[in-house]
Amino acid sequence: MNLLELNQVTVEFALRNGQPPLLALDGMDLSVRKGELVAMVGPSGCGKSTALNVLAGQLTPTKGEVRLAGEPVRGVLPSVGYISQADTLLPWRSVLDNVALAMELRGVPKAQRRETARALMEKMGLAGFEHSYPRELSGGMKKRAAIARVLAVDPQVLIMDEPFAPLDALTRQRLQDEILALWESTGSTILYVTHDLTEAITLADRVVLLSARPGRVVKEYPIDLPRPRRVMDVKFSPRFIELEQTIWADLHAQLCQAEGSL
Ligand SMILES: Nc1ncnc2c1ncn2[C@@H]1O[C@H](COP(=O)(O)OP(=O)(O)OP(=O)(O)O)[C@@H](O)[C@H]1O
Ligand SMILES: [Mg+2]
Repeated sequence: MNLLELNQVTVEFALRNGQPPLLALDGMDLSVRKGELVAMVGPSGCGKSTALNVLAGQLTPTKGEVRLAGEPVRGVLPSVGYISQADTLLPWRSVLDNVALAMELRGVPKAQRRETARALMEKMGLAGFEHSYPRELSGGMKKRAAIARVLAVDPQVLIMDEPFAPLDALTRQRLQDEILALWESTGSTILYVTHDLTEAITLADRVVLLSARPGRVVKEYPIDLPRPRRVMDVKFSPRFIELEQTIWADLHAQLCQAEGSL
């Protein structure tokens, strides 16, 4: 069953100074099945974040529709956890209170949300920083706190925009394994954007390649590597290398096209 769907979604942005509108997405179709882990890749500026904003109900498309479990999406839904590219913590709240924020908005009692927030912070390697403020954290730590905030409310669908981008290699791998374990144990549905093709293949059931702008899906690649996967083990298998070469050739073609149109 398709849990998330984009049907012929077009997004045009109005620009200033009488310039013609910018066509970010052009008739994009995408579906994500329940329990699937899908990674989206494509050239910078091709419309990946725009597509996620539409899927998360934060941006109304110019044309087309979004569906969650068959129902049209209009506005932000509580069952969808979205970690956007520019996600920020509230500077006046402690890290613990930031992690607890989404629970607070859903009316979870204080003692329970503190307990959940503490446990998640520990999982994310943030133990000891509960009473710190966001300005006292590194970029990667802020990102981990933003992920913890969304995981705290156990969303039905998790949408993430380059969640691992600001992390160092070790933390990145730890968090990737953490997300994989979480996904394998909860059966949640994840759609996320990455610039890192190796990472996309390592984690996903399916990699979706977007064209140079205007974005639409040009190709999809089922990733038939066995599960459960561990990030370190997967990337040395012959099948992995084969998949990486195939997808990289197609991604490279889109990157060249994007550069040609700059
Ligand atoms: N609010 C906006 N107003 C005008 N143009 C926008 C707006 N948001 C995005 N765009 C334009 O839409 C296009 C797609 O942007 P988007 O952020 O979706 O790209 P992306 O694929 O996520 O890129 P990156 O990989 O660099 O994050 C870009 O050309 C961008 O300039
Ligand atoms: Mg983006």
